[in-house]
Amino acid sequence: MSSARSGYDSLVRRKKKGAVKLEAMPGLRSFHHLENEHGLILRQVEIFEEALSRLHYEGKPRLGENLKRLNRVLTFFESHLPKVFKIEGGVFFPFVRRHVPKLEAATRMLEEDHRRIRGQLKTFEAWLGRYQKACQKGSEGYPARRLRETGAYLACFLKTHLEAEKATVCRTVHAELYPEEKALLRSQMKEGQKNASIPRGRLRK
Ligand SMILES: [Fe+2]
Repeated sequence: MSSARSGYDSLVRRKKKGAVKLEAMPGLRSFHHLENEHGLILRQVEIFEEALSRLHYEGKPRLGENLKRLNRVLTFFESHLPKVFKIEGGVFFPFVRRHVPKLEAATRMLEEDHRRIRGQLKTFEAWLGRYQKACQKGSEGYPARRLRETGAYLACFLKTHLEAEKATVCRTVHAELYPEEKALLRSQMKEGQKNASIPRGRLRK
């Protein structure tokens, strides 16, 4: 799992240095794209759960195959989640807070979720590394249990987060934003400009 983990670390490092730029996200140019991305992530969470289950029930004969499956999903998470979190935290949520103030608390909680999901992903990857080492020694019992637990928690957390976003923020954006606000949101997401051109007045209670 070292390659996947190092991939995540490098993303985090690049993010810290400011090298992960919103402009470099051609796949998230609008709210519509963001919703599509949520659907893709949800599908990968299901694949992740299936991979975890196979790892547990299919045992050593399929160990290599199932680890590959799991690592493929992790690579997806590592490449997609930072981009989604960045555009949500940098553009989408601030826009929603400005235009629909009643969603202030919800968007703050969702942003906090992002931090915790990143931490949980790292925890899972650490246990995957320990599990793989333990497998080589034939002593994988405890790491296997911790892997299942941390993986189940990560999957549940991601699904709950995506459902909460859909039920609160996304539903409200669909129902309450005026057409011109939706156009403004689209343009801000396209440009990746944090808080740019946002009208000063709050438009709703
Ligand atoms: Fe999110």
